[in-house]
Amino acid sequence: MDLSVRIGSLHLRNPLMAASGCYGYGVEYADAVNLSSLGAVVSKGLFLKPREGHPPERIVETPSGMLNAIGLQGIGVHRYIAEKLPELRRLGATNIINICGSTLDEYVEIARVLSDVDGVHALEINISCPNIKEGGITFGCSLHGTFDVVSAIRKVTHLPVIPKLTPNVTDVASIAKAAEEAGADAVSLVNTFLAMAIDVETRRPKLSNIVGGLSGPAIRPIAVRMVYECRRAVKIPVIGMGGIASATDVLEFMIAGATAVQVGTANFVDPFIWTKLLDGIERYMARHHLTCLSDLIGSIDTSTREKQWVSS
Ligand SMILES: Cc1cc2nc3c(=O)[nH]c(=O)nc-3n(C[C@H](O)[C@H](O)[C@H](O)COP(=O)(O)O)c2cc1C
Repeated sequence: MDLSVRIGSLHLRNPLMAASGCYGYGVEYADAVNLSSLGAVVSKGLFLKPREGHPPERIVETPSGMLNAIGLQGIGVHRYIAEKLPELRRLGATNIINICGSTLDEYVEIARVLSDVDGVHALEINISCPNIKEGGITFGCSLHGTFDVVSAIRKVTHLPVIPKLTPNVTDVASIAKAAEEAGADAVSLVNTFLAMAIDVETRRPKLSNIVGGLSGPAIRPIAVRMVYECRRAVKIPVIGMGGIASATDVLEFMIAGATAVQVGTANFVDPFIWTKLLDGIERYMARHHLTCLSDLIGSIDTSTREKQWVSS
C-alpha cells in the first residue's frame, strides 16, 4: 500500500505529522517512537531568542479537550539548531520548523537562518497563536497581514512555506487564498480556538493568561469544516488538524480535503498513537480496495447534499 503524500517539493512517507507544541522538539519522544516512521515532526514554535512563556496555570482540562496558554515558551532558533537538530538528523526525522515572530522582520530573519541548515525540510509559519499579545495572530487574522508575512518569507527561502492558519476568523478560506497568492506551498489549519474557563468558587480565570486556546476532540467538527472550505478555495495542499485521536479521524480530514494531518493533543493521552493510526488507515484501505492513500484526498461526495449545506 502507498501511504505517501506530497506537500510542495516535500515527499512524506505517510500523512501523519506530530503537531507543533504537542511533541516538544521531537527528540524527547525518540526512545518511545521511531521518528523516521512519521510523515514529519513539527517543532515547538521558535522565536529568534529563547522565551519563557506565561507563568502557571498554563493548562486546563475541558470536556473532550484542553485549554492552554503556554505563551510560546521555547529555546529559540539558534539553540534548536545547535542542540536538537543534530539528533533529529541522526534519527532520520523529517523536520518542519514552526516559526514565530513579534515583527515581520523577525519572521524573515528566522526563515533566513533556517534556510541554509541541513535537516530542515519545511517552515510552518505560526501566524495563529491566540495567547500572545504581539505578532502571531495579529498577522493571521487579516488578509494583508497574512499576505505580507508569507510573501516576505517566500523571498528569502527555497524551503516549502506552510502558513498555519487561525480558526478565530469569520472566513478562513479567504485567509488561505491570501496565503496562496503570496506564494505559500501549503496551508495548515487549525490552530487553537480562543476560549476561557472560570473557577466559580474563586471567580478567578483558571488560566494565568485569562484566555487560552482550545484543542482536542471538542474542536474536530469545526476543524473538518474549515479544512473542507479551504480545500475548495485553494489549489495548494491543505494540512488538517484539530482533535484527531483515531484512524477514522485522519480519514475524515483527508476525505474533507486534507493532504496530510497533524496530531496534537492526543499525544498527551497516548504517545504511542502512531502505530494505531497507521494500522487503522491500512485496514480501511484494504477494506475499500485502495492502493494509494492520496486517492482519498478531497473525495467527499456531496452530490445529493450540496443544496442543504447551510442548515435551516
Ligand atoms: C500545549 C499546546 C501547545 C501548542 N503550541 C503550539 C506552537 O508552539 N505553535 C503552533 O503553531 N501551535 C501550537 N499548538 C497548536 C497545535 O499545534 C494544534 O494546532 C492544535 O492543538 C489543534 O490540534 P489538536 O486538537 O490535535 O491538538 C499548541 C497546542 C497545545 C495543546
